[in-house]
Amino acid sequence: MTEQGFSPDFIWSVATSAFQIEGARREDGRARSIWDDFVERPGAVRDNTTADLGPDSYHRYLEDIALLKELGVDEYRFSLSWVRIQREAGGEINQRGLDYYGRVIDALLESGIRPVPTLYHWDLHSTWEARGGWLARESVEHFADYAAIVAGAFSDRVDAWYTVNEPASTSLQGYALGELAPGLQLLWGALPTIHHQLLAHGHATRILREHGAARVGCVHNHSLILPESESEEDATAAVFADAVVNRVFADPVILGRYPDSGGLDEMMPIHDGDMEVIATPVDVYGFNFYNPMTVRAASGDLPFDMVPTPGASHTGFGELWPIMPSALRDCLVDFRTRYGDALPPLLIAENGASFPEPDVVSAPIDDQNRIEYLAGHLRAIGEAIDRGVDVRGYTVWSLLDNFEWAEGYTQRFGIVHVEQESGTRTPKASFEWYRDVISAAKEANDR
Ligand code: BGC
Repeated sequence: MTEQGFSPDFIWSVATSAFQIEGARREDGRARSIWDDFVERPGAVRDNTTADLGPDSYHRYLEDIALLKELGVDEYRFSLSWVRIQREAGGEINQRGLDYYGRVIDALLESGIRPVPTLYHWDLHSTWEARGGWLARESVEHFADYAAIVAGAFSDRVDAWYTVNEPASTSLQGYALGELAPGLQLLWGALPTIHHQLLAHGHATRILREHGAARVGCVHNHSLILPESESEEDATAAVFADAVVNRVFADPVILGRYPDSGGLDEMMPIHDGDMEVIATPVDVYGFNFYNPMTVRAASGDLPFDMVPTPGASHTGFGELWPIMPSALRDCLVDFRTRYGDALPPLLIAENGASFPEPDVVSAPIDDQNRIEYLAGHLRAIGEAIDRGVDVRGYTVWSLLDNFEWAEGYTQRFGIVHVEQESGTRTPKASFEWYRDVISAAKEANDR
């Protein structure tokens, strides 16, 4: 940070993901993913929506790119849908799927915006899930094959990539608890999915580099873990929660080993050489942050209970999604303290909030609550930078109101409002605010 604000090369970005914005689930040879299965399972999605409507970016991506240009972002984080690109994991290429992303990339470049695709934001083939999905070690080979396909197709135009989005969400919510696709409740049996996703990330990193990538990053979601009280039991629960939520994902990538808490390391299906691949150095560490997590000693089967954070207001998700920007600063500083010089440069790859907002609007939404959330977190990042944490950029989640997984369209994260049936886009006050933040930062640095 300079006295005027963020440094001239600080990266300003905004993010989306394929399944959440594209619609067009049956077009141009797209295969089925675990999310197609999930949304079609009665009662799995809160409002029973299926991601068919909404932003429809598969057809309206040029409108999105016009919005990005107006916003003034340096780059756009979006994801490639594996099931559009290969008919099966390890299978034939679907050229029409590749062509679609080629058009998106070209349009971004023509608008002066750096395309930063994420290889995997949860579109796993249904047919592969039926054969074990991320539980099966061969997933890694299939993912490497896919990484080579997209690197071959796009590395003439794309030089910055993210690999696997939030393995924690897939493993913990998808395979352990059943809240996200594939909706399994394997509890500790889900641990191999962590190892296989991390390994897939490591191989993809190497492959993208071999194709000349200048910047490759992982993406992990992290949280500051707060014990509810000073009791020894709550402190122990917090240490374990920190291991499960943060360290089991960060330690292997940064240090090349799993934390030993509760024997986690011994439960992983590690083969010779795996840890070296997982610890392949990244150029940036994509750091997603939404909220702190307060925990107390376990009352049931899970190793800790999550409880509301005392004194914090919350987003549309309710009490377990508290708003506490200082927690981002503290979490970043903790990472720096914990990993020291081994910590790669960080790039905030997602940060944002959902609030209840109407589906149909006649005027732009005046979302002062979202502005306050984003501004608070940006200040927290500035404070962390001042305390020596190397943060290279900031990404708002999300450009558009979109399909929020098991919550359907009930949670709106966009800085652009999207009407569910018509797909009509209306920038919110937070869009104007973010545009002004970016242009003010650039002007200050030009002076
Ligand atoms: C995911 C996004 C999601 C967001 C808000 C992250 O976990 O990467 O896909 O929409 O958080 O829940």
